[in-house]
Amino acid sequence: MTNEPSVGVVGGLPWRPERLRAERRVNPLGVGTAHPWLDWRLPAEAEDATPAGYRVRVATSVTGLAEPDAWDSGWVASTAWACRYGGRPAASRERLCWQVQVRVATGGVSGWSASACWETGFLERQDWRASWIRPGASAQRPRSDRRVYLARRRFSLAQPPSRARLYVTALGCYEAHLNGQVVGDGLLRPGWTDYTRRVQYQVIDVTKAVRAGDNLLGAMVAPGWFAGRISLHAVSENHGFPESPAPELLCQLDVELPGVRMVVVTDERWQWRESAIATSDLYDGECWDLRLLDADWDLPAGQETGWLPVERSRGAAGELVAERMPPVRAVEVRPASVTWRADGSALVDSGANDAGFMRLDVDAARGQQVEVSYAEIVDPAGNLYRENLRGAACTDRFLCAGGVGEELAPRFSFRGFRYAEVRGLSSPASLRRAESVTLSTDLERTGWFECSEDLLNRIYAAICCSQRANYLEVPTDCPQRDERLGWMADALLFAPMAAYSYDVAPFFAKWFDDVLDARTAEGGFADIAPRPSARDTAGAPAWADAGVLLPWLIYQRYGEVEPLERMFPSMVDWLHLVHARNPDGIWRNARGNDYGDWVPAGPDTPHDLFATCWLYRSTTVAGRIGGLLGATAEHGWLTERAQTVRRAFAAHYIDSGTGQIADPSRRGSSAAARRFAPIAAVETQTGYVLALMFGLVTGQAAERAGARLVNMVRKAGPALQTGFAGSALLLHALERAGAVDTAYDLLLRRELPSLGFMIEHGATSIWERWDGIASDGWPARPTMNSFNHCAMGSMGAWLVEGVCGLRPSDDTPAFAAFGFAPAITARLDHASYRLHAPRGTLRVGWHWDGPDTVVGEVEVPVGSECRIAAIIADDRFEEAGTRLVDAGASGGGRTVGPGIHRVRWVRIQ
Ligand code: BGC
Repeated sequence: MTNEPSVGVVGGLPWRPERLRAERRVNPLGVGTAHPWLDWRLPAEAEDATPAGYRVRVATSVTGLAEPDAWDSGWVASTAWACRYGGRPAASRERLCWQVQVRVATGGVSGWSASACWETGFLERQDWRASWIRPGASAQRPRSDRRVYLARRRFSLAQPPSRARLYVTALGCYEAHLNGQVVGDGLLRPGWTDYTRRVQYQVIDVTKAVRAGDNLLGAMVAPGWFAGRISLHAVSENHGFPESPAPELLCQLDVELPGVRMVVVTDERWQWRESAIATSDLYDGECWDLRLLDADWDLPAGQETGWLPVERSRGAAGELVAERMPPVRAVEVRPASVTWRADGSALVDSGANDAGFMRLDVDAARGQQVEVSYAEIVDPAGNLYRENLRGAACTDRFLCAGGVGEELAPRFSFRGFRYAEVRGLSSPASLRRAESVTLSTDLERTGWFECSEDLLNRIYAAICCSQRANYLEVPTDCPQRDERLGWMADALLFAPMAAYSYDVAPFFAKWFDDVLDARTAEGGFADIAPRPSARDTAGAPAWADAGVLLPWLIYQRYGEVEPLERMFPSMVDWLHLVHARNPDGIWRNARGNDYGDWVPAGPDTPHDLFATCWLYRSTTVAGRIGGLLGATAEHGWLTERAQTVRRAFAAHYIDSGTGQIADPSRRGSSAAARRFAPIAAVETQTGYVLALMFGLVTGQAAERAGARLVNMVRKAGPALQTGFAGSALLLHALERAGAVDTAYDLLLRRELPSLGFMIEHGATSIWERWDGIASDGWPARPTMNSFNHCAMGSMGAWLVEGVCGLRPSDDTPAFAAFGFAPAITARLDHASYRLHAPRGTLRVGWHWDGPDTVVGEVEVPVGSECRIAAIIADDRFEEAGTRLVDAGASGGGRTVGPGIHRVRWVRIQ
């Protein structure tokens, strides 16, 4: 953002809007729409201002903003902090500047914001003048081509450009080079999509890299997600490995010289040759021959020998789309510790289980082979445990060129790992440096939790660690084994927690396209997005539901309506399919692989009951979305179907007299579920949790059901018996049932099964299974045992909502209204949580001030309000005949506006 002074301060307010974004990015290049979504924030100085209107102006230059030639929205009466650009359609490659001014409820008007800009990408297919290329036909192409190749072209310019942009993508992964430099700061670009439907491209500002005289434009191109083993996931499961596709490249350099525009495009004038990377695969790792490295290949004066002609290729069948979220980057680099073993190998420990790789600097002889294999855990003797990686080799091999401090690191591959074993070095002195590089989609960190109990802080850190490792291009299940797929329930269940730590709105905005692309031939939501080839299975309950419930979550947390609009027609299509097959409201049919409450600590939950809970939730939420979008007919149909499901659920599963929620027939298990939970119980914790939290049971029956849940949990330990789905909402359900104390019992538990058990057993990330490591300290089973899975980390949402007391409103999105009602316990001294919410900083927290007083503090962002509700106290207080009341409020609670507020809760008899 430029820092020129605002264009006049009108109406006296001493502040102006800030952090202007277009399509959720600050000053983006390559915006893929002619009418981008614009948003802004009010600064902290705006304090208690309530926005009442905005005015946006857009011009082709900063100086033109005073009399905008593209758009002047005029004053729009609205409390919103975002709008869609409403001027003439932006042209391809056009750069537009904009600024915004806000009016508040008291009538005051802010200054104009500093100006920001956006630049469109290629909005039409014909803007691409480049052709897809790949190594020429003369190249001997192995059946499984995992080579990384180099492609390049020279060109000359008479003078330096005033502006130069590189539009670039690949089927595979590319790294773009210009005159000896890597250009663009993203890794593993162009990222992962279903390439048969959609391929993202990047736009890189290369104005400074292009020069007068000779230039060289080149790229390294690797198999990546397109042509690596991951692309064959489902095929390999079912049909063995067919011939894999070869990676391809497409790029166009647009150079503006005074008075002329020049383009350099991929075509048959390019040349290719093999790189020093003989094989590259996301699962298996890379094999390098560093003796083949040619430091000059990307320089105009580089050697001519060994280069071969490329050929034009078919390219992507799918649409070319502009990238819409931050790229993968190295988000952390930290030194690793090295232990030398008697056999001459080294064990390198990065200190935490992340996704990424080790970077080593070594002194080795020419031709010496160094092998680096990875693992998440080691045995007590320090040997790697690699069985759980299944078919992923996760090993890099380097044939060294011989030299001082040669750098060894993969380029187009990553691992889920904490440890690496290095073999082939001659002495400890030959390993000059070992550091671990953490990769993740570079989302903005927006939330922080902290409390007086170290165990909870470590649980929260492990949850964040798993999020970073699994929010890599798409929300994956795990980063290490031969899977790493966008499993939809994993994404859905963890997202409420994820959005409390990072700004996940851009991440999901992109992934929703993957979800749409992954729909089955019938038009229903699937289990995995992007969908592995050759898989066309209907989505399972809780997996497919992500297509409805995740856009709703993004709306609630960020106020974004666009994903709802984009996804709503498909939500309705999918629900039509499911309801048509299940007219009586019990979801018995069309459940795909029907995973159920995946990998539970206790017995399986009857699948008909489980599925029907999800059907009710999705149908209800889709109905609300229909209402919000003004889709009257759909709203009516969905509301009526939700009632049918609700009635059917009550008739089949609820005994309102006793509050029992059960299915004596234990109907509908699946082969998939039986692998991990062979027997279903008539009633389970998960059954109660879902029915209570989704509102399928209400009133007195809910009270009784809640009491039964609490009883079950207490009788079990107190301990959880839930899997992916039940765990996500168990603590909330216990709180709702008045058992805050039991919720804390589970949260602070250190024995199996619990998050605390994972931490006590050395976890720095969350495990896939409660019993990932058995009580004897060793992995119980190798086949499905990831030590870095987000799903169970979903319980962490209660750290924010329960422990710290942030209660998002179901009706008012983006925390414009929220509640503050912490679950106070004497087992903690203090707890706090801070969020960079869409409207500004939000903070909630509390601490004990002596034995009888709790001091709560809440910071309410600009334009928002907070209801300080009656405290939800640890039931032990009540047992002791005391309760905590808000000393400053008469009655149940009070509502406060923007600013920092303190509340004293005092203990009374
Ligand atoms: C994944 C899970 C996923 C599941 C489907 C597993 O292999 O790792 O997280 O949701 O399959 O049940």
